[in-house]
Amino acid sequence: MHYHHSLLLTPGPTPVPDHIMKEIQSPMVGHRSSDFEEIAEEAFHGLKPIFGSQNDVLILTSSGTSVLEASMLNIVNPDDHFVIIVSGAFGNRFKQIAQTYYKNVHIYDVEWGKAVNVEEFISYLKSLNVTITAVFSQFCETSTTVLHPIHDLGNAIHHFNSDIFFVVDGVSCIGAVDVDLAKDKIDVLVSGSQKAIMLPPGLAFVAYNQRAKNRFQQVTTPRFYLDLNKYITSQAAHSTPFTPNVALFRGVNAYVESVKTEGFNHVIERHYAIRNALRQALKALNLDLLVNDHDASPTVTAFIPKDKEEVNHIKNELKQRFNITIAGGQGHLKGHILRIGHMGQISPFDILSVVAALEIILSDYRQVNLIGQGTAKFTEVIHNEI
Ligand SMILES: Cc1ncc(COP(=O)(O)O)c(C=O)c1O
Repeated sequence: MHYHHSLLLTPGPTPVPDHIMKEIQSPMVGHRSSDFEEIAEEAFHGLKPIFGSQNDVLILTSSGTSVLEASMLNIVNPDDHFVIIVSGAFGNRFKQIAQTYYKNVHIYDVEWGKAVNVEEFISYLKSLNVTITAVFSQFCETSTTVLHPIHDLGNAIHHFNSDIFFVVDGVSCIGAVDVDLAKDKIDVLVSGSQKAIMLPPGLAFVAYNQRAKNRFQQVTTPRFYLDLNKYITSQAAHSTPFTPNVALFRGVNAYVESVKTEGFNHVIERHYAIRNALRQALKALNLDLLVNDHDASPTVTAFIPKDKEEVNHIKNELKQRFNITIAGGQGHLKGHILRIGHMGQISPFDILSVVAALEIILSDYRQVNLIGQGTAKFTEVIHNEI
C-alpha cells in the first residue's frame, strides 16, 4: 500500500502551511525598493512578541548556525574567557565555533538527556577563578529533546554577576515557548526559520537587548557578513546590509499573521498538549523516553527502542509503509534513539497518525497486540488538555 500524503515529523525542517507557501511564492520585488522596505519593516517588528524582545528582531539570510556564530563574534572579544554549556550536539556546535576563534573557552558538560542543574552550574561559575564574559546555552537541545530551565538559569547568572552576557540558542523552540528577554535575563536570543517558525530553511534571527547592542559596537573580534552592527544600521532604514531572501521575509509576515489568528498563548498550549499526549502514548506502547517529564521539550520527543535493529526497523517502516519521516539520534545517541518533531503547524491529529503507525509497526515486530494502546492514551490526554 502506498500513502501519497507525506508527514514530515523531523525537528526541522517542518511542514510549511499552504497559506504561507502561497505568500512565499508571490512575485519577486527589488530588495532596494520601497516594496521590500514595507515587507522588511513588518517582519522585523512582527517577530518581537515571538522572541519576547523589546527591540525589533534582526533577520539574516543564512541558516541557524550563522547566528550561533554571530552571537559569539559580536559578544566575545578575542582574549575573553567564556562558558559554553554542552548538553548535546548543538552545544557541541557552539563549542566548535568557539574553538575556531577563541582560546579561553570553558566547557560545562551536562549529561546528554539531562537539563542543566542551575545551582550546580552557579557553583561551577564560582569555581572559575577568571572573569567570565558570557555564558552560551541551548534553550531546547534538539539532539536530546531537553528544554533547559532558561528563565531560572538566566536569573541565577544575573544574580551571580550581572556583567555576564547570557546568549541563548532557541533554534528549535522559539515560536513554541514563552520567552521574555527582560524577565529571563537573556541578552541575545537566536533562532532559525525552519522549525517552530514553520518556514523553509534560509533565515536566521537575532533578538537582543540594549546592553547587547552596546556590546556589539565595542567588540573587536573580526567579522564581516556576521557583523550585527551592519544589520542594526540597515534595520533602521527597513533594509538589510546584503541581498535578503525576499520570499522568506514575506513568509515571516504570513507566519506572524497566522500566530495572531491562533493566539500565541494557544500556539504554546497546543505544543505542550501534543508533547504530553505523545509522551503518554509512547509509554503506553512500552517505549522508554530519553528525557524526564519535567525537562521534556514541547517541540520534539526522543524515545528509546529496544536495540539498534528496532531503531532502524521503526524508522524505515514509518517511511516506507506510511510515508512518515522522523529523525534518528545524533552523536553517541545515533542508533539508540528516535526523535519525533512536533512543532510549527502540527495538529494533534498529525501526531495521532504517527502513534497509530507505531502501534502497527511494533505489534508486528514485537509480536504483541498494541493496537489501540497508544492512540487511546493520546486521545485521552488531548481530550483533557484542549
Ligand atoms: C538547537 C539548534 N541549534 C542550531 C541548529 C543549527 O541550525 P542550522 O542547521 O539551520 O544551521 C539547529 C539545527 O537543527 C538546532 O536544532
